[in-house]
Amino acid sequence: MNGFAGSDLLIEVAYLIATALFIFSLMWMSSPTTARRGVFAGELGMILAIAGTLLHRGIVDYKLIVIALVLGTIIGIPLGKVQMTAVPQRTALSHSFGALCVTLVGTAEFYLPREVPMTRFMMGVLCMEVILGALTITGSLMAAGKLQEWLPQRPITYKGQNFVNLGLLGVAVVVAIVLVIHPERTHLFPVIVGIPLVFGVMMIVPIGGADMPTVISLLNSYAGLSAAAMGFVLNSKLLIVAGSLDGASGFILSVNMSKAMNRSFSNVLFGAFGQEQTAATGTAEAKPVRSATAEEAAAILSAANKVVIVPGYGMAVAQAQHKVRELFDALSKRGVDVKFGIHPVAGRMPGHMNVLLAEADIPYDKLLDMDEINGDFPQTDVALIIGANDVTNPAARNEPSSPIYGMPILDVDKARTVMVIKRGMGAGFAGIENPLYFLDRTLMLFGDAKGFVGNIVRELSGGSGH
Ligand code: TAP
Repeated sequence: MNGFAGSDLLIEVAYLIATALFIFSLMWMSSPTTARRGVFAGELGMILAIAGTLLHRGIVDYKLIVIALVLGTIIGIPLGKVQMTAVPQRTALSHSFGALCVTLVGTAEFYLPREVPMTRFMMGVLCMEVILGALTITGSLMAAGKLQEWLPQRPITYKGQNFVNLGLLGVAVVVAIVLVIHPERTHLFPVIVGIPLVFGVMMIVPIGGADMPTVISLLNSYAGLSAAAMGFVLNSKLLIVAGSLDGASGFILSVNMSKAMNRSFSNVLFGAFGQEQTAATGTAEAKPVRSATAEEAAAILSAANKVVIVPGYGMAVAQAQHKVRELFDALSKRGVDVKFGIHPVAGRMPGHMNVLLAEADIPYDKLLDMDEINGDFPQTDVALIIGANDVTNPAARNEPSSPIYGMPILDVDKARTVMVIKRGMGAGFAGIENPLYFLDRTLMLFGDAKGFVGNIVRELSGGSGH
């Protein structure tokens, strides 16, 4: 008797500490200086939550649990080792796994025989859990496929799409209401799993590359809300708190990212709601561009007073951040004022550029957000773009037919000289042409970001034998 009471107390204490750690984890993760602590707190909280769950008296056999733990570990280890540039699709996969778990638990709870029938409230929550869970499974898999470029990133739209999507969701909700009133109609349950699975696919199909970051955080929010609903069904306070934290933070992040990208939140919520997006405007004909060598680039940079470096996905792929630090040092030593312009969605995850530049020990006060730096470009001698594309595309300002029209960009085209390091004329994530490259003031520096920046540094330090 005493032993049982003791283990119950232990479980409650473990859950309480885990809950507090999840809350602190989120708080600490909101600043780069405490983010690492936040990650550790989250990990510790999760270990305590799992340990507490394993102590439950209801567990009669650990065999299946051990198999699940081994399977989870086998899948989790490679997932934890992906390149930072693949973090969004990795995150989408995690959401999909979480949602699969929630949907399976909800399904089991529905079909399991129970002594006391579920209250209407509980049945309603269970239906919500399953609907949100199921649409998150397929929605997240679709998002991962688009981000990994296994599926076309172009938004695919057709007439009446919103009607079809909302209609599908409406049918699932109506069936859920019927189930709440008549829980004995168990044959209806597969409908509230099946329809949201289809809706998850349809929801992502019309969403283009530029809206993907927002969609990922929205799916995060759905996964969290469904986990919170599962907490009600299983009577687990820990799940309610953790799921609500996840749901709320994901939702706030989605709204903030929509604002930062000047996208309509309803577009993302319902999948390009209310608009038929135009296809990519890439052209096949080759237009002339001006290119320069590392030697010429070094001469222009050393003659400048003010330089703004704009990093993007290409810098991350090339792992050029340490060479960029050397460039920063070499120019600063010559008295050039060097700053970094950071776009909120440069790279492939929020804060991607900040993390890479911090890793290379570039002083934090030199990294300026888009709003802080944009006013500086007209007085900037050189805007040096390193592997960024979409976040500098003036079509977002000037071409209403562009898929990224309205998205705030870094106004690099207002600098006196623009230099762009990239390997060729390849498009960015949105798959569209960048008119910046054809301006008179633009010089293309063709090459791998790490190699090209290294060559400029060598020229600046006089190591080229001149
Ligand atoms: P992108 O628009 O993706 O452009 C990156 C450019 O880097 C490409 O045009 C590519 O041109 C060049 N590149 C690739 N490898 C390179 C290398 N080794 N050396 C030099 N250049 C290289 O990048 P961005 O400007 O950072 O914009 C980010 C995009 O990703 C936005 O559309 C955003 O919406 C989307 N997105 C962002 C996130 C978050 S949250 N940050 C998540 C998912 C998607 P070449 O092939 O010619 O070299």
